[in-house]
Amino acid sequence: MTDYTTTNVGIPVESDEHSLTVGTDGPILLQDHYLIEKMAQFNRERVPERVVHAKGGGAYGVFEVTNDVSQFTKADLFQPGKRTPMLARFSTVAGEQGSPDSWRDPRGFALKFYTEYGNYDMVGNNTPVFFVRDPSKFQDFIRSQKRHFGSGLRDHDMQWDFWSLSPESAHQVTWLMGDRGIPRTWRHMNGYSSHTYMWVNAGGEKFWVKYHFKTDQGIDFFTQEEADHMAGADADVHRRDLYDSIAAGDAPSWTLYMQIMPFADAPDYRFNPFDLTKVWPHGDYPLIEVGRMTLNKNPEDFFVHIEQAAFEPSNLVPGIGPSPDKMLLGRLFSYPDTHRYRIGPNYAQLPPNRPQAPVHSYAKDGPMRYVSPDVARPYAPNSYGGPEAQTGVAGLPTGWDVEATEMVREAYTLRREDDDWGQAGTQVRQVLDDAARERLVNNAAGHLLDGVSKPVLERALQYWRNIDKNVGDRIAAKVNGG
Ligand code: NDP
Ligand code: HEM
Repeated sequence: MTDYTTTNVGIPVESDEHSLTVGTDGPILLQDHYLIEKMAQFNRERVPERVVHAKGGGAYGVFEVTNDVSQFTKADLFQPGKRTPMLARFSTVAGEQGSPDSWRDPRGFALKFYTEYGNYDMVGNNTPVFFVRDPSKFQDFIRSQKRHFGSGLRDHDMQWDFWSLSPESAHQVTWLMGDRGIPRTWRHMNGYSSHTYMWVNAGGEKFWVKYHFKTDQGIDFFTQEEADHMAGADADVHRRDLYDSIAAGDAPSWTLYMQIMPFADAPDYRFNPFDLTKVWPHGDYPLIEVGRMTLNKNPEDFFVHIEQAAFEPSNLVPGIGPSPDKMLLGRLFSYPDTHRYRIGPNYAQLPPNRPQAPVHSYAKDGPMRYVSPDVARPYAPNSYGGPEAQTGVAGLPTGWDVEATEMVREAYTLRREDDDWGQAGTQVRQVLDDAARERLVNNAAGHLLDGVSKPVLERALQYWRNIDKNVGDRIAAKVNGG
């Protein structure tokens, strides 16, 4: 026998399709509790979409350590031979829930590792740099990329207006307008922490580190024409590709490499190593292999496991800490705050966010809480044997010395090689080959020809010439009908 339908609390219902009425054609009755439950539940099916990175997809998997990096960190997930279960979510940034996966945009690369000492989240992108370097500019930046408040349309004029007035965006914009701006699939892109983080080993020695998850499938991309076609042909192409690959047993994987800078190198490095708009050249800090992440399990319920997944850069476990990157420090506040708003204050109890480590938290109550605190009394200190904070377990300090004593609102102190154009220029001159450079010129010119007003256009062409005179002149020639 097939299962019988019930209400949300298991009471058998009489019909899947007819409401309770007075006579066949009569009015509907208020005591049709099941109809009311159906309508009320439906009205509450949505939670707010993420304010950024709204469109995405993800899967569960495992991270395996393949090299001994215990000399650099005591974090349990990076110890030799360790296997740690994990969740990944990939996304576009500016588009809404239903927007095409193939729009030109950076891609989010968010990872949650269920370690023995709580959840560790590495919330990165498929680019090693970002558009701005102060969290105070993030909100303005995002508004320039989202829809115009008047027309309700995406607006290239706003995008180039902001970028051309914010020269620190140049390096990231060269990525965005190049091939990496539209990956062919999420499986064919790299992931980077972008930020510098701190690692601390068992002896308390500190290091500055950057994460590079390199795709084992190889880098691949859509041309602008392919992406435009795909936006109509299959708006969910990336979500579908990941799901179908895993369902077919073709589990994608990424190899994690680290760049590791000795703690003492930072003060005298030639540019600010904490500036999010810059990479550390591989020649200075070569990649060191750490392990492999494999995604092998699709979510059973997309809403439960992916929509309700809550990643937060503030989830740092013993052996890993933040750095003086102002953007990172701003992000540490932002994510838990948005989760409390989007999915509620007890979001850590939801399946994708629930740690696999023991939780002995004194937090209690609040909307939708269903796991009771594992404590004898809901306060500390108490005399009934409750948990006690222990620095030995919490880990070694992950801080750094600060010399300044004055409160200021200022940009980072400039060092001898700190500028906004240099690494962007290296990228277009030395990293791209002729064909990739030509595609970048075409992509940028096509973007600029789509609704960018005269003064903004002039400034944008100068911006490109500041990155590279030759590339700027070529973009200008195309824009001016060359
Ligand atoms: P390297 O020559 O050592 O590294 C260049 C790196 O660029 C490659 O290892 C590859 O890294 C990446 N790359 C290759 N093709 C493309 C492409 N079409 N679009 C974007 N990235 C590409 O040089 P440096 O480390 O001295 O850096 C020089 C420039 O390379 C930088 O200005 C930066 O823009 C770019 N770059 C540097 C990275 C770094 O962490 N040092 C990382 C990525 C790019 P990968 O396999 O990680 O993509
Ligand atoms: C998502 C804020 C910079 C990567 C988000 C969300 C917010 C946010 C509010 C929505 C989270 C949610 O609803 O679940 C900020 C702020 C930033 C910043 C304030 C700068 C000050 C960055 C940077 C990166 C990044 C530099 C990458 C290096 C991501 C990713 C997601 C995200 C991957 C999606 C996470 C997911 O898949 O759920 N960000 N962000 N963000 N952000 Fe940021």
